[in-house]
Amino acid sequence: MLPMRDGQAAATAIQRGDYRAPAWWIDTVDLAFDLDPAKTRVLNKMRLRRNPDVAPQALRLDGEELNLSRVLVNGAGTSFKMDGDQLVLENLPEGDAPFDLEIFTTCAPLKNTQLSGLYVSQGTFFTQCEAQGFRRITYFLDRPDVMASYSVVLRADKALYPVLLSNGNLVDHGDLDAGRHFAKWVDPHKKPSYLFALVAGKLVAREQRITSRAGNPHLLQVYVRPGDLGKTEHAMHSLMASIAWDEARFGLTLDLERFMIVATSDFNMGAMENKGLNVFNTKYVLASPATATDVDYANIESVVGHEYFHNWTGNRITCRDWFQLSLKEGLTVFRDQEFSMDMAGSASARAVKRIEDVRVLRTAQFPEDAGPMAHPVRPDHYVEINNFYTVTIYEKGAEVVRMMHTLVGRDGFALGMKLYFERHDGHAVTCDDFAQAIADANPDSELTSRLEPFKRWYAQAGTPRVHATGHYDAVTRSYTLTLTQSCAATPGQPVKEPFVIPVELGLLTQDGHALPLQFDGEDTPGATSRTVVLSESSQTLRFVNVDSAPVPSLLRGFSAPVVLDIDYSDADLLTLLAHDSDAFNRWEAGQRLLLRCAIKNIANTTDPISVTGAFEHKFLSEPVLQALRNVLRDPALDASYKELLLTLPSETYIAEQLEVVNPQRVHGVREHMRAQLALALQTDWQWAFEQHQDSGSYQPDAISAGRRALSGLALSMLCLAAQRSGDSVWPGKALQRFKDAGNMTDRMGALSALVGSGHDLAAPALARFYALFKDEPLVLDKWFALQAGAPDRNGHVLPLVKQLMQHPDFSLKNPNRARSVIFSYCSANPGAFHRSDAAGYVFWSDRVIELDAINPQVAARLARALDRWQKLAEPWRTAAHEAIGRIATRSDLSNDVREVVTRALASSAP
Ligand code: TRP
Ligand code: ZN
Repeated sequence: MLPMRDGQAAATAIQRGDYRAPAWWIDTVDLAFDLDPAKTRVLNKMRLRRNPDVAPQALRLDGEELNLSRVLVNGAGTSFKMDGDQLVLENLPEGDAPFDLEIFTTCAPLKNTQLSGLYVSQGTFFTQCEAQGFRRITYFLDRPDVMASYSVVLRADKALYPVLLSNGNLVDHGDLDAGRHFAKWVDPHKKPSYLFALVAGKLVAREQRITSRAGNPHLLQVYVRPGDLGKTEHAMHSLMASIAWDEARFGLTLDLERFMIVATSDFNMGAMENKGLNVFNTKYVLASPATATDVDYANIESVVGHEYFHNWTGNRITCRDWFQLSLKEGLTVFRDQEFSMDMAGSASARAVKRIEDVRVLRTAQFPEDAGPMAHPVRPDHYVEINNFYTVTIYEKGAEVVRMMHTLVGRDGFALGMKLYFERHDGHAVTCDDFAQAIADANPDSELTSRLEPFKRWYAQAGTPRVHATGHYDAVTRSYTLTLTQSCAATPGQPVKEPFVIPVELGLLTQDGHALPLQFDGEDTPGATSRTVVLSESSQTLRFVNVDSAPVPSLLRGFSAPVVLDIDYSDADLLTLLAHDSDAFNRWEAGQRLLLRCAIKNIANTTDPISVTGAFEHKFLSEPVLQALRNVLRDPALDASYKELLLTLPSETYIAEQLEVVNPQRVHGVREHMRAQLALALQTDWQWAFEQHQDSGSYQPDAISAGRRALSGLALSMLCLAAQRSGDSVWPGKALQRFKDAGNMTDRMGALSALVGSGHDLAAPALARFYALFKDEPLVLDKWFALQAGAPDRNGHVLPLVKQLMQHPDFSLKNPNRARSVIFSYCSANPGAFHRSDAAGYVFWSDRVIELDAINPQVAARLARALDRWQKLAEPWRTAAHEAIGRIATRSDLSNDVREVVTRALASSAP
């Protein structure tokens, strides 16, 4: 058993309010590694000095799973003691003069299955230091506000590890005795320990030389395993585009001669922004038309951008402490979202990206904010920081930055960023510092006049609700709109102060024309879309010169991360769906109509549903179907936009709207609606499929990808309709398309149409897919995920998932593979997971426990699959509670998993 889990002394929470500046500074670090998978030797020579601003105290260095063999101060032996995991030095030189501290340790990379610290993946050494992995490499002040200059010597067997990389510039390299060699790297920039990285192994690189706008030359490299070089072109293009974008949009240039990306197939998350040496999950680097889908291509562009943008927002200016994590993550997600939008080009492609981002926010972050793990964008306490790399920190954090952008305007935001770098470059700062810089650069803005209340977005958890009621007065030809906000209690925060909520809005006539907006007191009508700022609990807006009762279009572009409650009639929603000039709200009107239909039929439990039987119940009304048909046939709309509009809200999103959730009923009603949509629009789907075929070479651009997305949706609808009508023409066509497909998007689309409709042709197609791609790990992940995520037929998925875990290609130790089977089932397939016999939950608890012994970070993410157990109807609720309890009673849990299950059990009634 691991020592850190001894006696399970309940790990204590770290409080934001306890922050103290470090008592010591580390100015320089010279590291020397003798790399050996079984036992790597690390010599760490630091130059330290006392922080004159802090009362003198002992030096406490963090360490974890290290073997310590020597400690020298200024070259001489010294006394030290251990306090838990910390190395404590009490007899250090007096005074302010710097001194040398040398620490010699060893660690065991091969045994490191947590993938934090130094580990081996397929014979190559990698490091992952964020958030607290550096302490698993050497003793250190492992906190982001200690920034040092690093030089690194790597020594290793030359045949086994021909490539030796670390941060910064290569200053020396050469051969050593006994077939070994060395490389010396010096990083010209100071950095916190979490940005340290090394990589050593048999790798090859795609290289690109570029010249920045400022005229400086740079070398870009993308390192992969030898067979994968052909799949690096898109990543390299994405990197070049990211560099150009940050220069053009924010004036931020690359500050390194060399910028490297290295891909590994064993990685806990997506990618990591180590200074000058980004380490990526292969999933976000490798792509070829034959192996990667359009979604993969888009994700690679966005993750490459994200990590690159961290070079300024995260690395040049970093976080003072981990409570400020959203300072770098929220801002960098905002930047990568804007990058993807600017790359997509057209206004409608931008709207598509916005809708996709909002969908993630609402299906993942809103539930988090309403559940036991709810926390503010700047949390107040945590037990295990790894549990706080959440959709709240990332996605909601990005929304907070986006609202600032809205309140100060695009140019004002650019000024704010400029001031932020002038003030804080090279420092470790806080979320407050960021907001202050944006505000100070825009003294007359809506943000600056309300900065303190605005900052509640950082402090208060929970999703605010905005309730809107409108009233038209024909006599005065005026329309009043009352906006009221509220926010439910979250753990530890019973009462909330009002938020500052930018609401972009417009008014439409009943026949869909945009009205120029004239507020009471204004002389003339203004623009048709305007932003008002809601900062009180309730505010009333009065519009004048309105000829008839209008339809309000509120929260355009999703201008704030809130739930909007408004009592639309079906006719209002049909007007918005057909005519709103705001593409986001047009989509939203469609989603509201579909959601309304789902909720009504879920509530009506006397009405039995049969997923496979004949249609006795027409859930979707004829006007709604006609409106959707009109969208599908509209020549003015992009295919990708149509695909989003015609996709039903997810089961997770529907479930969030309900007080009490019967997951089987949610699944059944949604499937029934899907089948009805498939049948009612059959000829339209056929048209859509045929009209959106592309021949010619594969291009991952937004327009081509949109056409493939829509034809893919059409094909799955046609297979679904065929399943109901018993005809086999479309399954046959799907199989043919699967075989002939010229790219992975079309191939995967056809395969999933067959698997999704449960047709007999799915089995041979899956077998053929496996045979084609058995040597492509990322494609095998898709093969596993598709099966574990398939619609359930009489409970077939769970036995299948267990069988997949016995497959020779399955490995629990590889996070991507574990996610493709276990997470695809437990977290992404509610209809199959929430079995009434509780077997899905038992399976889940076993896997959490099993994974925890291997990789606590990944286990703790899986442990969150039942966060919303309180909302479940019986018998699921009791069964889920028991399954969580089964995990919680274990005495050998990691802090990661313990924190998650403890919070889940502590959550009170819904
Ligand atoms: N900072 C990284 C990013 O957002 C993510 C990250 C944090 C990470 N901790 C990690 C990646 C641990 C891998 C492992 O880009
Ligand atoms: Zn990030």
